[in-house]
Amino acid sequence: MPFYQRLGQVPHKRHTQFRKPDGRLYREEVMGLEGFHGIQSILYHHFLPPRVLRTELIGSAKPAYVDFGPIRHRAFATANVPAGGDAVSARVTLLGNNDVTIGISRPTESMTFFYRNAQAYEVWFTHEGSGELLSQFGRLSFSAGDYLVIPFGTTWQMRLHEPARFLVIESASQIAPPKRYRNQFGQLLEHAPYCERDIRGPSELLTFTDTGEFEVRIKVRDQLTRHILDHHPFDVVGWDGYLYPWAFSIHDFEPITGRIHQPPPVHQTFEGHNFVVCSFVPRLFDYHPEAIPAPYNHSNVNSDEVIYYCDGNFMSRRGIERCDITLHPAGLPHGPQPGSTEASIGAKETHELAVMIDTFHPLHLTAAALELEKAGYMDSWSVGGPEG
Ligand SMILES: [Fe+2]
Repeated sequence: MPFYQRLGQVPHKRHTQFRKPDGRLYREEVMGLEGFHGIQSILYHHFLPPRVLRTELIGSAKPAYVDFGPIRHRAFATANVPAGGDAVSARVTLLGNNDVTIGISRPTESMTFFYRNAQAYEVWFTHEGSGELLSQFGRLSFSAGDYLVIPFGTTWQMRLHEPARFLVIESASQIAPPKRYRNQFGQLLEHAPYCERDIRGPSELLTFTDTGEFEVRIKVRDQLTRHILDHHPFDVVGWDGYLYPWAFSIHDFEPITGRIHQPPPVHQTFEGHNFVVCSFVPRLFDYHPEAIPAPYNHSNVNSDEVIYYCDGNFMSRRGIERCDITLHPAGLPHGPQPGSTEASIGAKETHELAVMIDTFHPLHLTAAALELEKAGYMDSWSVGGPEG
């Protein structure tokens, strides 16, 4: 995140002697993005960070995509994706391209290993459940509605307080609040739908000095590798900087409304390279006396549009249920189904809660997505015959 945080003890001056009570040195690690040009943090470890007992290849971590077939709108029911296991193991990737992958995870157990994704930022949107994201940066508690944003290279372990349901986004690029909402110093501006107060970093540093065998699974080069350390990976006594995992609750997103229908970018919450993440939250509808609250038909010509439906009623989407995902691909228009536009007139507010991901390059489907597909979604615009 573009603001400075500090937890635990750090020496007055970086890159100087910082000693343990027994006189030995703590081990300094500079962890930064983009070759010392991006955001970074400096961490102080009990143990040597590169120290590894054993390494072992687990296997490929590359999603396998299937043929899309004729271009058409698609919908997928994710409510009954099998639950079980830990957050990382339970993840099912449904859609993806070189910029981003989108999936579902329904874990019921806490992780027993540690995980580090060095090739992607990860965003875990908590639809249901609660727990703690532990990392070398400390403890970050989360509950339903929280987006957990986890930078490249963070070593983490998720502990659950209850079974959970996540929409999971992996991004080949950094995830950040939209640039148009930040000033030249990175501070969020007054017209942004949220501010720094709504963003939570790790609140408590956890320092473990246990030795033994600790498994870290590392995702990089589209492969998973197992590293066995001889010490606990969360051995940090202090850190400071701009790089750390953080949480933002969708319930803290302040909707931007107007007299007439506002365009989708008002819902934008985060940006990555070649995609955006948007939050649709409960809000008052447009208040022009002749306003049509339902969205207009639109051809977002260069954009595939994915919506994950969380809660509330989805007035423009007939047949769409909680936990469904729709994919409106580039190349054809979409909009409300027959009758939805008329039905929306006079409505004052919506209680819908949904997450949208717009990608600027086509998304591919996995075999897992095909298994969840709701047949006939494309036909939902044809029910009732041609409309004038
Ligand atoms: Fe749309």
